[in-house]
Amino acid sequence: MRVYVLNGPNLGRLGTREPEVYGATTYADLVALCEATGRDLGLDVTVRQTDAEHELLGWLHAAAAEGAAVVLNPAAWSHYSYAVRDACSMLRGPLVEVHISNIHAREEFRHHSVVSAVATGVICGLGVDGYRLALHHLASRLG
Ligand code: DQA
Repeated sequence: MRVYVLNGPNLGRLGTREPEVYGATTYADLVALCEATGRDLGLDVTVRQTDAEHELLGWLHAAAAEGAAVVLNPAAWSHYSYAVRDACSMLRGPLVEVHISNIHAREEFRHHSVVSAVATGVICGLGVDGYRLALHHLASRLG
């Protein structure tokens, strides 16, 4: 079963970006964690990150066409991108929205995600472990 783990803007800077908020795990570590978890679970996991919204939209369109499952951290786009939300609405497989930090305990503009209403479920505030948990959920849901 194909799962895309898609990450939005600034997440490529994990490890150096506000470590007090996002932790010390680097983006390379996150990719390795998702790939290793995917191997353990028998999932075909592809991990990507972009700072360009049109690129994320293209990946979501491809995932929709394939009927693939998606783990998505839309990062700042979560809070205002109706284009990302609309692309998520087209997905036919399950969508797990992940946030490393607890967006509800942070600045007010982060409290609302326009993506959440079209996600299957949301994990936030559990650090990068949220990605591992999302993949475990998808494996049991799809298996
Ligand atoms: C984030 C939370 C967002 O508010 C922020 O813009 C991010 C990362 C998280 O993973 O905690 O870039 O999605």
